[in-house]
Amino acid sequence: MASCSVISFSMIFVFIGIIHGWGTSSFDALTSVDLVNRKSVYRTPAFILTPGEVSNKYYRVEFPKGHVGVRGFDAEVVDEAGNPVSLFEVYLHHWIAYNVYVKKTEKEAFLKEGYYGSNNPSTRFVGNSGLCRYGPGSTSWGLGSETRHTNTTIPPPYAVEIGNSKKIPDGYEEMWEFNVHAIDTRGVEDRPGCTECRCDLYGVANDEHGLPLPKDYIGGFACCYDGTKCRLKEGFESTKRTLYMQYTIRWVEWSEHVVPLKKYLIDVTNTGSGCKAEYNTPTCSMSGFPTDCIDTRETTASLPEDGILIYAAAHQHTGGRGAGLYSANGEEICRSIPTYGIGSETGNEAGYVVGMSACYPEPGSVKISSKDILRLQSNYTTLRGRTGVMGIFNILVASPGDTASIISVKKSDPLHSGHGIEVTLNHPFVIVGLVGVIAAIGLALFYQVRKKQSEGYQALST
Ligand SMILES: *[C@@H]1O[C@H](CO)[C@@H](O)[C@H](O)[C@H]1NC(C)=O
Ligand SMILES: *[C@@H]1O[C@H](CO)[C@@H](O)[C@H](O)[C@H]1NC(C)=O
Repeated sequence: MASCSVISFSMIFVFIGIIHGWGTSSFDALTSVDLVNRKSVYRTPAFILTPGEVSNKYYRVEFPKGHVGVRGFDAEVVDEAGNPVSLFEVYLHHWIAYNVYVKKTEKEAFLKEGYYGSNNPSTRFVGNSGLCRYGPGSTSWGLGSETRHTNTTIPPPYAVEIGNSKKIPDGYEEMWEFNVHAIDTRGVEDRPGCTECRCDLYGVANDEHGLPLPKDYIGGFACCYDGTKCRLKEGFESTKRTLYMQYTIRWVEWSEHVVPLKKYLIDVTNTGSGCKAEYNTPTCSMSGFPTDCIDTRETTASLPEDGILIYAAAHQHTGGRGAGLYSANGEEICRSIPTYGIGSETGNEAGYVVGMSACYPEPGSVKISSKDILRLQSNYTTLRGRTGVMGIFNILVASPGDTASIISVKKSDPLHSGHGIEVTLNHPFVIVGLVGVIAAIGLALFYQVRKKQSEGYQALST
């Protein structure tokens, strides 16, 4: 239906242009490239939490179908009525959405058991474009408590490509899984400790598989696995809650006007022996003047291919004081800073990281060669020690060849602020053929475009 309306719409476009346009004095430079911005809202299946409890589950979920370009991915925990749930009550440790290739003959088993099930052995991660490819965390989209105020928007003409049938192996299907790790911190004795997964608070000495944890493992992911419970204040009781992850994907149908991005993760823990995601920060010694109570971790990394940086944002936990990405000669490529909540309302929870700033370099201004050695830095305050913190940069790059051929004209619609029309052409020769049409378009048509676009939005589906 979508592609249908695009085609018929383009025809009207040309027609009206011819009969209506030449005498128009104020015309805008439009082309027949009409990318309809779509938005799909979905929910994961419900998860149920009691005070102190951890839920770390994997769900098979819905995703936009077909060959599409994703331009944004927002998510939050909501209750049964769809109300956003405060981090004070449910700490969102992380969520990750990732795609897998499922062998068609194993599809049923996959739908039942997920990637980690034993009856779909051929299912495999699609993975990101390189660097830290640890498990699902390396792929697609994922954030933590900062989800509500971290900008995930990818500016046109770029997008993350999914559902390209040419890339899906024969006999396989691309499907999506969603991992949500949430901790119910109502009534817990030590809220920061529970969110940092301190082993003593969870009474955990063995990992999820029953294997003893190393003595020096005092906190982190291995102590707050699914079903564990953080210590509650004496006598605290409350009801169980039914919750969902609600996620909103902004996307366009794929076309030659969309430029694909590659995704890389650079993890500060990757200092030679792999990406571990988590690390601990010490408590600073108070003997000196405690102004420099900052733990600074660094690592270096190189991209497997040349790229033009389009987007960069870091992931840090509470205590984070920012992360930086630097070029070989020390120039700052991006600094991503946490926003801390300062209130009591949902989305502004005091003391929590409720957002991370994102960098949007002017496309073409930051070229990264595969020969460059990038440096990543992650800072945490050490006024108290912490376990299970992270310093991960999520970057999106375009291939230099794709970017060079783009001519991008942005026009904003004065009456519908926030919804600019983006016109992009990959091939200069297209312009020549379009000149007549371009000149012919009047404002009346312009507003028809707007109307059509807003109709392209999809309702909430669960
Ligand atoms: C996100 O970033 C894009 C690109 O820079 C910008 O246009 C948009 O306004 C930002 N959105 C928010 C909510 O800050
Ligand atoms: C990290 O902290 C050090 C020392 O205070 C500072 O020089 C550096 O600029 C900080 N880096 C970032 C990314 O904030």
